[in-house]
Amino acid sequence: MRDLPLAKVYQLLEPGPVVLLTTAHKGRANVMAMSWHMMVEFEPPLIACVVSNADYSYTTLRATKQCVIAIPALKLASKVVQIGNCSGQGVDKFQSIGLTAAPAKLVEAPLVAECFANLECKVVDTHLVNKYNLFVLEVLKAWTDPAQKHPKTIHHHGYGSFVVDGETIKLKSRMP
Ligand SMILES: Cc1cc2nc3c(=O)[nH]c(=O)nc-3n(C[C@H](O)[C@H](O)[C@H](O)COP(=O)(O)O)c2cc1C
Repeated sequence: MRDLPLAKVYQLLEPGPVVLLTTAHKGRANVMAMSWHMMVEFEPPLIACVVSNADYSYTTLRATKQCVIAIPALKLASKVVQIGNCSGQGVDKFQSIGLTAAPAKLVEAPLVAECFANLECKVVDTHLVNKYNLFVLEVLKAWTDPAQKHPKTIHHHGYGSFVVDGETIKLKSRMP
């Protein structure tokens, strides 16, 4: 075993897939890239995620308590990196980067039409926001695109490095 700098630990554990988080505030939609998220409950599905207070999305998520988590496949990887490297404060990223904002059913934040799945969410717990920028979201409605079969997701390893989903293996499960 060799020493690993603590600053690199996240590169081992960032689970992915990298997702997009959309918000809409005062009639303007925005989108950011996010890989610090995890499931915390099956049903209703609860997702914990870290949205930095340096991000414009932090302000819009705090203000509206609604968002969409959109899951991009490999073909969107370069757009994901662009989205994650600029602020939407004064820019319409949907337009400048070339993504389609589609209306959601239960929240103001838009779906991303090019993504293979979209999850409409509301913020249900903000206890750890001040300490860790950690929001707990409840998924209210989920959509998938039937035209995108077997999408490969991307997983962030830091500084422009990503791992792409590989082969699927099936093992016997004893869970019902
Ligand atoms: C692959 C990738 C993953 C990222 N994951 C996160 C994350 O989990 N949380 C976060 O706050 N920012 C994350 N970022 C950075 C934000 O996407 C970035 O700061 C973005 O510009 C914020 O946009 P906004 O200011 O329009 O909200 C990530 C960026 C990339 C490229």
